[in-house]
Amino acid sequence: MKIITVLLFLTIANLCYASSWQEELLRPKYESTYAESVASNDYFNMEKHREEAFSSGFQTKVPSAPVLVLEPMQHACQFRIYNYIGQVLNTYSRCIEVATDEWWIINKPYDISRHGEDLCKQVQSDEVFKNGNFSIISFSDGGMLARYLIEYCHFDQPIRNVVTMGAPLNGVSAISHQKRSSLFGSILDWIVDKLIKYEFMDRFIIAADYWRDPRNVDGYLHYSRFLAEANNEVNFDEDRKDAWMHINHGLFVKWEDDTTIIPKESSHWAIYDQHFEVIDRHDTILFQQDLIGLQTLEKNEQTSYITLPGDHLKFNFTQINDLILPTLRM
Ligand SMILES: *[C@@H]1O[C@H](CO)[C@@H](O)[C@H](O)[C@H]1NC(C)=O
Ligand SMILES: *[C@@H]1O[C@H](CO)[C@@H](O)[C@H](O)[C@H]1NC(C)=O
Repeated sequence: MKIITVLLFLTIANLCYASSWQEELLRPKYESTYAESVASNDYFNMEKHREEAFSSGFQTKVPSAPVLVLEPMQHACQFRIYNYIGQVLNTYSRCIEVATDEWWIINKPYDISRHGEDLCKQVQSDEVFKNGNFSIISFSDGGMLARYLIEYCHFDQPIRNVVTMGAPLNGVSAISHQKRSSLFGSILDWIVDKLIKYEFMDRFIIAADYWRDPRNVDGYLHYSRFLAEANNEVNFDEDRKDAWMHINHGLFVKWEDDTTIIPKESSHWAIYDQHFEVIDRHDTILFQQDLIGLQTLEKNEQTSYITLPGDHLKFNFTQINDLILPTLRM
């Protein structure tokens, strides 16, 4: 009986993912004007924006800390933003591809720990990055890899500045684009809530690493593959907190109309309560008990929170120049 249920789940899950998650999370349609212009290697535009950045008073003589760019997983560094950042900040900048060649049904593409470990080795073998004191700018689930590097990868000096843009920092509680209130959405979410409990099926659960069922907090704490521990909600480890407390500055960017990260406020460390109402980060246990130092950092004005208009990953050079680069120069 159990086997049949499991097979049924698998079939439904496969169908659902093919039509929904796989489409949206693994092959996202980036509508960003920025992404479009750079995906086609539009260096002419890049030059123009670089001039803009220079003329708006950037001091490029003093090099900023080197910058590691982490684009969304399987994204193959398409934004090419490392190039731009390196030029404008007069520093070493590199984008490292993660999970680009993997096929979701064979591997577990969203295994943050496995990809994080691999990434950690690559960063540690980079001549410039290997001792730490470099900054990170990350996009979408690249932000979870940034978390992995900060909390689980060892460097002699702490990581300097951290920018996450539209990251599911405190987990996701619904499947993108499918509202819980719709029939399809609620069925999908029900399946995921159930499936998450079958360990061997986690390869099919793209976001199992940071899935958070707000009606089943115990289940989340028990089954979460990455987030609960990274948040120090289980297996508390002072080192993970220390690592965060030693960063120079953290900038967390949320998109106002983000339809991929649900709740979108997760990009600002917020979560849902059991009625799917947003709990502000200040009211979470994570913040109140200062489990990874976010409260301390905020008190010391070492974090900033900004909201950009539009949907997931919609950004342009002006925003990068005005809102993001100042943090990377700190
Ligand atoms: C870390 O990087 C910053 C910015 O580049 C620099 O000012 C600082 O001296 C570096 N710290 C160490 C310990 O190298
Ligand atoms: C960049 O995006 C912002 C917000 O959507 C918009 O106000 C601004 O005009 C855009 N800038 C350019 C140069 O497209």
